[in-house]
Parts: sequence; structure tokens; C-alpha cells
Amino acid sequence: MRYWLTMRADALIYELDETFSSGEALAARLGVSRVAVHKRVRRLAEAGYPVASGPRGYRWRPGVPAPRPLLRRYAGPLLDEVVYLAEAASTQDAARELAEAGAVEGALVVAERQTAGRGRRGRTWLSPAGGLYFSLVLRPELPLAALPLVSLAAGAALAKAAGVGGLKWPNDLLAPDGRKLAGVLVEADLRGEEVRYLVLGVGVNFETPAQEGAAGLAEFGDAVRADVLARFLAALEPLYQSLPDPEAVLAAWKAHAVTLGREVRVHTPAGPKEGTAVDLEADGSLVLETPRGKRTRVSAGDVEWIGGFV
Ligand code: BTN
Repeated sequence: MRYWLTMRADALIYELDETFSSGEALAARLGVSRVAVHKRVRRLAEAGYPVASGPRGYRWRPGVPAPRPLLRRYAGPLLDEVVYLAEAASTQDAARELAEAGAVEGALVVAERQTAGRGRRGRTWLSPAGGLYFSLVLRPELPLAALPLVSLAAGAALAKAAGVGGLKWPNDLLAPDGRKLAGVLVEADLRGEEVRYLVLGVGVNFETPAQEGAAGLAEFGDAVRADVLARFLAALEPLYQSLPDPEAVLAAWKAHAVTLGREVRVHTPAGPKEGTAVDLEADGSLVLETPRGKRTRVSAGDVEWIGGFV
């Protein structure tokens, strides 16, 4: 299913790898002249793809989240096809387009930058070049009520893939000092109570963003985008396969959580709720306990730390 090749991409994107290929070899594989390859590489570079030329030919800059580097790092059921864009308004919309065109589970859209990246609750997700921005098409056979678990599973996989920080409910990845490193956005296309498909979007800062409260993965050691993405898929795979039995997902999430045991104020659609975050319910909702021992559950909202992240 290669409808997107003509839609928005150059076939060269699927031939380039992290090691050099000569212009001659690429030309033979694509059935074009060496001059045509050279021109196409130049066009990709102008569009913002991290492509390098040298005496030995052409290659991607090592570690970029391009199709071949990704497919070599992860060859499981959660990766079918990779659409690699220099720029997207939002990879969520591009992935939705793919899903609507019939893409199977594992269709992935990755962009070098986004001009209209979005986060949860309609917030903007700033997406300059250098970060990791991707959206994955999933087609789970799940009841609608199980969707929060997908989102927790994604958070747990992200924390494992990043190898640093912890999770703020439901799925923000925070640096050890509480600044935000990465976030997850799950959008569902529903028909009645049935999930037609999900678009699971992940944004990871690599360089430290200018906004207050944001951190970058590169602050914590060598971080390679293709490695993080592949590790994310590998970590998500068993959790996704264990759905809808929530136990494995809840345990994985709790193993990376920094929310439980803290005093929080959760801004829910029904207003703020306060208490100590003590547990997760089987449906993924957060359990708060007041000083008098009264327990309440919140199924959606934004967590704020009472007294800061200490
Ligand atoms: C959040 O923390 O609010 C979620 C942020 C999710 C951002 C990612 S970047 C890739 C994908 N495309 C988008 O427009 N958003 C998600």
C-alpha cells in the first residue's frame, strides 16, 4: 500500500540509510540517472530533511527517524509503514489521513518539525526541528471505556524509551526536576461505541525548549531520535497486546510514576479536586484521598502539584 509515495513523498526517502550509498547505486535502485538522484537529494535538503552528501554518496544523518533506520531498529507488529515528512502541520492530521485512506495498524507519520503541533486540551505543542514528533495509527479491538489504558500504556512505554524521568498522570513525561520532557496525545475515531482507529501522538523535546517548565532529553545524555522511537514501539508492543487486561498496563505505569504519594490538585472538567494521589483504578482513573480518608476518582484532568514538585 504505497499510495502516499505519490501523495507526499519522494521514493528516495525510502532508499536512503544512515550509511552512504553511492549516487550510482541509488540511481539503479530508483531507475533514474545519477544526476536525477543528485537533484532529488538537493530538493530533500532544501525541504529540511537531514540528508548528507559526501565523496561516498548520500545518507541520512545518523539517528534520524527515517524509514530505513526505524525499520532496522524495530521490526514488530506496531510498525508497518513509515511516512517521513520534513514538515507537517500536525502528524496527527497526516496519520488520520492515512487511516482514512485505509492504512493498517502500525502506519507511522514522523515529521522533522510541525507548524501546528497540538497537545492535550487544545494546547499548542511547539515543534521545532530537532525534536521527535510522531503519530501512530492503531486499530485495537477495544471497548471505548478501555481507551484511557492505551494512553497510560503509551506513557509507560515513553518513560521506558526515554530512560529518564517519571510520569505525571495521565501521561506527561517529566524530567527528574519536574520539567516536562514529552507528552502523549491519543485521538480516537469512533463509530458509536466502536473504535474505528486511534491516532497515538508523541512529542519529545530533545534540545531544551525556551518555555519555562520544559526540558530536553539531550540534557540527560546522548539521545538518538530513532533509538527512542524504536524503544517506544518495543516497549508499547507487549502492553498493547495485553489490553484489555489492565493489570500489566497499570503495573508498568506505576513503575514509572511520580504522581502517586503526592498532594495534587486535579483540574477536571467538573472543577478542581484536591487530595493525595494514592492509586489508579482498573479503568485508569486516578484515586485521590483527602486528609480525612475520603477517596474520589478522577478520570480526566490536569494535575498540578500542591506546594510544587518537591
Ligand atoms: C501533551 O502533552 O499535551 C501531548 C503532546 C503531544 C504532541 C505530539 S507531537 C506529535 C503529535 N502531533 C501533534 O500535533 N501532537 C502530537
